Amino acid sequence: MSSRPPHAPDQPATASRLPDVPEPATPEPPPFVHLGPGTLTSALAGIAPERLGEFTGSWHDLPADTHLNTASPYRFRRYGTFRFTGGHLAPLPHGVFFQDRSVNKVHGGVPRLFAPLREDVARGEVLRTLVRTLWDHLPGPRAGIDTCGVHQIRVTATAGAEGHPAPEGVHQDGHCYVAQVLIRRQDVRGAESCLYDLREQPVHRAVLTRPLETVVLDDRRVLHGVSPIRPAPGTDFGTRDMLLVDFFTG
Ligand SMILES: [Fe+2]
Repeated sequence: MSSRPPHAPDQPATASRLPDVPEPATPEPPPFVHLGPGTLTSALAGIAPERLGEFTGSWHDLPADTHLNTASPYRFRRYGTFRFTGGHLAPLPHGVFFQDRSVNKVHGGVPRLFAPLREDVARGEVLRTLVRTLWDHLPGPRAGIDTCGVHQIRVTATAGAEGHPAPEGVHQDGHCYVAQVLIRRQDVRGAESCLYDLREQPVHRAVLTRPLETVVLDDRRVLHGVSPIRPAPGTDFGTRDMLLVDFFTG
């Protein structure tokens, strides 16, 4: 004889009998990561020092950015794009760099042709290793993202003329993710990197001071800006070298 009451349910009361409640959404990861230099340093540990020296030394061989329209150039750069799938980095034909006016109030809407990356940089294992490692640290999903743009940029400052890493002010780049890697900072003060939420409230501030210190951000969820640079006290010339890697859908 069953001990079950006459109207007892066949199944215990479970969530299936509750009113439909949406599954809790998976919380989004923070829209950026700030990596100390150890992350990329470790990734590059197996590469010959000579190759690393050639890579960082290539920032001494950047042509002036002719789109700045200043009396004397303070920004120097090269640019290249790559298909990046399965950890393989394949150079794409050289072309212009274009940003919409909605994201770049200074240069938006104007195709900008920068000098191409040097072959040794574009096809070297240093860049390939850096891009793979940055990919591993993108702060969010990666489905469909198969292309990246690589910028080598030097900004200089003299006693009479500060340098502007981001003349467009607080902005987005128009990509999915952007990695900002410090390569070299010499006799510079300033260059505070700041991230903002979409209401332009600051969410992170940092001065990148150690080579390979890196910020990787979700360009759709945060804005970014960098304050001008000036020569450090007691000097009359400062240099800040950055590697920027944009990740987007091809
Ligand atoms: Fe930017």
